[in-house]
Amino acid sequence: MSEVDSKLYAPAPEVVQNAHVSGMEAYQALVAEAEADYEGYWGRLAREFVSWQQPFTQVLDSSNAPFFKWFADGKLNASYNCLDRNVEAGKGDKTAIIFEADGGEVTKVTYKELLERTCRLANALKAQGVKKGDRVVIYIAMSIDGVAAMQACARIGATHSVVFGGFSAQSLRDRIEDTGAKLIITADHQVRGGKQLPLKAIVDEALALGGCEKIEKVLVVKRSGADVAMTAGRDVWMDDALAGQDSFCEPEWVEAEHPLFLLYTSGSTGKPKGVQHSTGGYLLHAALTTKWTFDLKDNDVFWCTADIGWVTGHTYITYGPLALGATEIVFEGVPTYPDAGRFWKMIQDHKVTVFYTAPTAIRSLIKAAESNEAVHPKSYDLSSLRILGSVGEPINPAAWEWYHQHVGGGRCPIVDTFWQTETGGHMITPLPGATPLVPGSCTLPFPGIQAAVVDETGKEVPWGQGGILVVKKPWPSMIRTIWGDPERFKKSYYPEDFKGQLYLAGDGAIRDAKTGYFTITGRIDDVLNVSGHRMGTMEIESALVSCTELVAEAAVVGRPDETTGEAICAFVVLKRPRPSGDEAKAIAKQLRDHIAREIGPIAKPKDIRFGDNLPKTRSGKIMRRLLRSVAKNEAVTQDTSTLENPAILEQLGQAY
Ligand code: WT7
Repeated sequence: MSEVDSKLYAPAPEVVQNAHVSGMEAYQALVAEAEADYEGYWGRLAREFVSWQQPFTQVLDSSNAPFFKWFADGKLNASYNCLDRNVEAGKGDKTAIIFEADGGEVTKVTYKELLERTCRLANALKAQGVKKGDRVVIYIAMSIDGVAAMQACARIGATHSVVFGGFSAQSLRDRIEDTGAKLIITADHQVRGGKQLPLKAIVDEALALGGCEKIEKVLVVKRSGADVAMTAGRDVWMDDALAGQDSFCEPEWVEAEHPLFLLYTSGSTGKPKGVQHSTGGYLLHAALTTKWTFDLKDNDVFWCTADIGWVTGHTYITYGPLALGATEIVFEGVPTYPDAGRFWKMIQDHKVTVFYTAPTAIRSLIKAAESNEAVHPKSYDLSSLRILGSVGEPINPAAWEWYHQHVGGGRCPIVDTFWQTETGGHMITPLPGATPLVPGSCTLPFPGIQAAVVDETGKEVPWGQGGILVVKKPWPSMIRTIWGDPERFKKSYYPEDFKGQLYLAGDGAIRDAKTGYFTITGRIDDVLNVSGHRMGTMEIESALVSCTELVAEAAVVGRPDETTGEAICAFVVLKRPRPSGDEAKAIAKQLRDHIAREIGPIAKPKDIRFGDNLPKTRSGKIMRRLLRSVAKNEAVTQDTSTLENPAILEQLGQAY
């Protein structure tokens, strides 16, 4: 990091000039305002960015820390803030969403139309018995209906829990059971890369697994129009549920702390955690960060390529851009279909001005572009672009440079946004009209966020020294609790090691010795990040050992991968003799299919290695550090003298 100066990209004067946060002095002034009067700062922004039906009188309530409350006596409705208030402000005929389907068909909705669609859906939910406080699971592909379904839940005060369409029946079942949801919104199918994939059939399978007895209704959106089984009395076509519903639904005014949504994410133990977000504080940060981090203006065309099944899709598709009355793109499908030029063509066709995607996507598109000029960004007119963003995992400097030069034409600032499902919105990120950029660094905290790097005792380490990333003060959009497990919330995020005073992100970080810029050095717990998808190693291990006819024992570690960032590497001991050759390949495939059924295809290990046993110390602990070296095909430098059976190192050398 000593070369920092030479790699600094200062924002161009014309970018600075028109920016919402214009220049480093403006950034510093906001930081200083928050430092001088923390509650005053957030209170001011909450009044500016959110419309309250009942104003709040208290900003932050720390009386039951770490269960912080923000704006607690204020009342609002998230859907009112995203839809009605834009219509009331004269934006009724403005395009809210431009939707492009997998096959390229384009549908647009205006704010007025999206409001009506949301209201009819909200009335349909009410007619099916959904009330304030009920949970609704949404298992649907990218679509205007998906966004409207989330908004409709928000409108009636139901808490939504979106489950990514790539998760298996088993994973879906676990989430449905944990939420105690009453109703599911799904579609007959989803379409990805020209292929029709089932959704409704997976919902049926999930419900048949048992434990979801609270589900009363399943609303099914028609996407493919193909035949699907419908259970009488339980399953209702969305079109039928919507028929005759009024196009206005009075918003349910909820308390600021009312849970807007639950979103499941992986932790270091087996069971995914239901991250609970609030309405008021969450919406504030969604709107605020969308405006400042992307320097979003009224005439922008914003495109966040994430799926609504992840938090990025919640904050930067469903809530942030709509709360600002922006025009945004929603796309169905994959970046590589019909070819790897899809993103560039869509930017060209829809004149996208702000583009937000993940390093994994960029890396795979670089590969494709390098071998086929037709899908290289230079073959498209990307001159509409103004700002680029990156999210989900560290972006390596080489990918950053390519993104900057070939997509951004060397003129668009890249905001490398560090945040998490738990943080609700951006935590450490450049602001395009203020922060000089350094490839590979997420630079400085968003104004008001008090991030720091500490040692094991919670003491701040000097710049230039690596440590543990923490947040020193609560912030409005922070996780409120883990649904149904407040103890786990405390233990995971406000651990005793730090006297319950610091929010533990779970990442390591280092600040540049000169600039204080943050670089994230990766997870410090047993969480992997594969293509920006977060997965627990324990979760994958339990899925493997649940294959009881084959697997005796399993250990999972991550290893670096050029395209996916990290790759999953599984070490497996079978209940039968260790296989090799074609037999090993066949069993590896069987295990991958098993994991796809248990969790979803995203959790399939890239490498599977078989051993007679796993490397353990004499006290029986799996030597994970050693496994990480083996996974990287690195010479093992660790002390293997405590290894019970040194011969297995050679067995594990072969990956299938
Ligand atoms: C983890 C959170 C951010 C929303 C989507 C993922 C990693 C995220 C960055 C970044 C380096 C990053 C961290 C974090 N991460 N953004 N810009 N640079 N690492 O949310 O699934 O909750 O994952 O993703 O490890 O803890 P998530």
